[in-house]
Formats: sequence, structure tokens, C-alpha cells
Amino acid sequence: MSVVYLNGSFVPYEKALVPVEDRGFLFADGIYEVIRVYGGKPFALHDHMLRLARSAELMELPFATSPAHLQTMALEALARSHLKEATIYIQVTRGFAGPRTHDWPQEPQPTELILVRSYEASPKEGLHLAAVEDQRWELCHIKSIGLYLNTRARQEARKKGADDGLFIREGVVTEASSSNFFAVHRGSLHTHPEDHRILPGITRRYVLRLARDLGIPVKEEPFTYELALQADEAFITGTTSEVTSVLRLDHHPIGGGQPGPITRRLQEAYRDLTRG
Ligand code: PDD
Repeated sequence: MSVVYLNGSFVPYEKALVPVEDRGFLFADGIYEVIRVYGGKPFALHDHMLRLARSAELMELPFATSPAHLQTMALEALARSHLKEATIYIQVTRGFAGPRTHDWPQEPQPTELILVRSYEASPKEGLHLAAVEDQRWELCHIKSIGLYLNTRARQEARKKGADDGLFIREGVVTEASSSNFFAVHRGSLHTHPEDHRILPGITRRYVLRLARDLGIPVKEEPFTYELALQADEAFITGTTSEVTSVLRLDHHPIGGGQPGPITRRLQEAYRDLTRG
């Protein structure tokens, strides 16, 4: 059963409505988080709430309540749902404060939404990515609801017969449309550093920690599309995609088109971490 919390109350899904002039709707002026629930327990909920708070700070977006309150309500929503395998979606927008204007409201009434939904993982053996020019804004470290170019990247990739788009900015691989990207090249794990050009993925951070624990050399430095093409292995990380192998990039097989050993080890380590 889906559970919705909206602006202080739990409401039936059909009754969860926001005003047409909500600034999230008109200006994509809002932020969000997606949290995965395994066996009834949210994974890394606190990390997600910290990132939500950071996104809010970067956008000068106020909360009606607070991240701590939303965390409590997220747990309450999950308990009400009785779901074991689920996602918790949290969104905060600058809300509705009168007729549309570019001026930020003096007295904002932020909209706070929590939506708990059942989630069935459909693990894929491996993905085919297609390169897409990264034309997004330079505030990709904010988890903004303005995701047009992310969704367009997926769409462009699908048109080319691939599963997802891999963003390339000035020849450098940044991330995929809704996940972070890793390449294994000559024994080292390469991924874009945490800056304004990628989302600081929570899965990314856990996977980097696991890699270091396993003694895998890590290079958090910008790397080129050519390196990705020559990679021995590649994978993406994300809350819902977890660790998923990338087997083809623009129709070129990566590492012989089979999931590689380092990917497998990290996949297993991440599974153990999330499923206890
Ligand atoms: N996507 N990069 C982008 C652009 C993302 O949208 C996401 C997450 C990630 C991975 O972050 P994390 O490991 O914290 O989930 C990287 C979410 C799941 C989404 O939009 O549905």
C-alpha cells in the first residue's frame, strides 16, 4: 500500500493535491531524495536527510518543518505502509505563496511530501549506455527536481537502442542520467570527483568505501570518454540500480561484454551491506 504524507498530515493518495501555482510545479524550484527500503529498514536514511538539508541550503530553500522531522515522518509513513521492499520519496518545494512571480516569496510556505511505495527490484545482468552531451546546469550537486535533461538523456539513449545515457562534458565522463558511473582501468577504479558536475551519490560513497576496504585502488579524478571505452569493466551505482554492470558503451563491448570480477565483488559487498 502506498502511503502519502503531505504538509503535516497523512492523506489518501487521491487526496494528496498541491496548488497549481506551487513553485515546484511552475519553476521546478524544489529538491528530492529517493531512499531504498530493504526488509522493512531504510538504507542510509540519515545520509539522504543530510543531502536533502545540503540541497536546501544550496538553493536557499526553507523547510516548513525540518529534515529531522521529515526523517521521523518518513519512518512513520514506512511503518504505516507495512512494506518490506519499498522506496521512500521525499520532495520539498518552495511551495505556494500567491500568484506566479520570479520574486521569491517573503513568507514561503514550502510543500513537503513523503511518498512510500512498494518497490520490486528487477536486477539486470548488464546495461548498454549511449554517450550524451552533458548540457545540464553546473549545479548538479543539488538534487533538484529539475530533471528535464536527465530524462531526455534516457530518452536519447533509448532511441539509440541503449538502456541509459552517459553524460559527457567537454570529453569528460560525469555520470549517467540517474546514477554515478565507474570504470575499472588497469586495476584502478575511476570515478568523477565530487564537485558541482555530479550528484554526490550515496551509493557511490558506500561503494568507494567498500572498494577501499577491499584494497582496490581508487582514482576520484576526471577521466575521458576514451578511457571509459577502453575500460576493463564499468558499472553504475544508485539507490535503485545499486551496483549494475555496464557491458556496452555506444555499441562497443566493455571488458568482453561480461560483468568483470571487481564489479562482482563490489556488487556482492554492497548487497551484504544493504541486506545485512
Ligand atoms: N537518482 N546521479 C544522478 C543524476 C541521480 O539522479 C542519482 C540518483 C545518482 C545516484 O545517487 P544515489 O546513490 O544517492 O541514489 C547519481 C535517483 C535514485 C532518482 O532520481 O530516482
